[in-house]
Amino acid sequence: MNAVEPSPAADWLEHAVFYEIYPQSFRDSNGDGIGDLHGIIEKLPYLHSLGVTGLWINPCFESPFRDAGYDISDFYRVAPRYGTNEDLRTLFAEARKLGIRVMLDLVAGHTSDQHPWFRESQRHERNRYTDWYIWTDSVWTWSAPNQQVVVGAAERDANYIPNFFYFQPALNYGYAQPDPKAPWQQAVDAPGPRAVREELKKIMRFWFDLGASGFRVDMAGSLVKNDPDGRATAALWHDFRTWMHREYPDRAMVSEWSQPQVAIPAGFHMDFLLPFSKPGYKSLFRPTAPGATAYFDPSGLGDIRQFLDEFEPLYAATKGQGFIAIPTGNHDTVPRLGDGKDPRELAVVYAFLLTMPGVPFIYYGDEIGMRSVAGLPSKEGGFGRTGARMPMQWDASPDAGFSTAPAGRLYLPIDSAADRPTVAAQEMDPHSTLNTVRTLIALRQAHPALQASGAFAEVVARSGEALFVYERASRGERIMVAVNPAARPCEARLPATVEFSEARQLAGEAGAFQCDAQGWTVQLPAVSYAVVEIE
Ligand code: NOJ
Ligand code: CA
Repeated sequence: MNAVEPSPAADWLEHAVFYEIYPQSFRDSNGDGIGDLHGIIEKLPYLHSLGVTGLWINPCFESPFRDAGYDISDFYRVAPRYGTNEDLRTLFAEARKLGIRVMLDLVAGHTSDQHPWFRESQRHERNRYTDWYIWTDSVWTWSAPNQQVVVGAAERDANYIPNFFYFQPALNYGYAQPDPKAPWQQAVDAPGPRAVREELKKIMRFWFDLGASGFRVDMAGSLVKNDPDGRATAALWHDFRTWMHREYPDRAMVSEWSQPQVAIPAGFHMDFLLPFSKPGYKSLFRPTAPGATAYFDPSGLGDIRQFLDEFEPLYAATKGQGFIAIPTGNHDTVPRLGDGKDPRELAVVYAFLLTMPGVPFIYYGDEIGMRSVAGLPSKEGGFGRTGARMPMQWDASPDAGFSTAPAGRLYLPIDSAADRPTVAAQEMDPHSTLNTVRTLIALRQAHPALQASGAFAEVVARSGEALFVYERASRGERIMVAVNPAARPCEARLPATVEFSEARQLAGEAGAFQCDAQGWTVQLPAVSYAVVEIE
């Protein structure tokens, strides 16, 4: 059961730890109540001190902001509320000085209904943009199998297919299997879809040339319609990756797809595990159904197999080709990681997240266990997601150090809980979540075995038992990790097939790994972890 070493992978991703910034809520530098690019620049030393080496910034482009910026009206211009293209260039450059690379969000599948391309596309007269979006052949064709249709919204005698909300018309990448009875469904190589693909490349080139290190790709698996196995969409991304490899070989893409076995062979450097259709990712930190228990729950009633039985085949299918990214959360996910968890519980979670293979992503605020807020009215199309998008809590001042605007003018209110976590308080406490995260990131960066392509093998992982033990290995270095999220001690004997004669403590509980005449055992107190180097 010893871990096998996979082939080495792309250089800077190997030791990367990413941090997602929802720019609205991170840091407002000019007191208008909304976060901005200068606010991010101001906080680069903090991010550097945390040890992160990559940022993903949610869409920061011109937009009516009816879906928080995922409704773009100009792909080539930073939204004035965040700053200018020059500010973004400065952010790229300043971040790079600290060894931090910045990824933007590529909303490839749709635009805002206010985008000039779409306005042209809505017109009766044929023009350059007529086929850039997906239109039915008549306004009376007002339904289509498995697709939403927005009816009667144009001068043009046709209806359009939106991608998400009704004001996000789908760009036309064509249909993998156009329905012969619906001739408005175009093939992927029709002139409209070809022009859209070229434009997407132009957008990517524009930001690469300004200094972007890559993109997180929104709804990456949904570009080509009626593509049930994702093959036509994968082929499209394969072309993009081939082009990037030629012209921008040091840039990277991470997909919002949650099907690494498709996305990574297609060309994505990384794919997120997300709480979509399958329960594996969700089962780690969030109940998969009412009454269910997450694995990282102190009751110890969760089941690590729910995650592993899904993860391991995906890991095996993508090893050596790209990385699975396990995020702490994101701007779409409630509850937040910190909801209902104390610093000890969070330390066990981070011991896991920061020692798993692939590339970790930390959602802003999760490094201090920031909590979501319930019951808020929807902000910018956030609906149930709004509570996970609150202003970052920097300090104890009334605006939490997020802004200097009067409370009523903030993008979203500050969490009013008296015990809301803050960066300032946690900086002072060596056992805070913030300092634990810092220590574990440093540990990951000091040990190749813990990094992206270090091999992974489970050692003890049984349904009905809280203890989970696994091995990581790279270039002769071997590290064993044990986590116990349960509020009771646990113990297990390691299988005799795992051979080593010494265990040197790197982090967490000392003396957790013990050897006797029968071999090795692991003993962990309630809610604890241990990381050891073995030889
Ligand atoms: C996924 C994004 O993460 C989400 O915030 C957005 O609303 C949809 N895609 C539509 O772009
Ligand atoms: Ca501002």
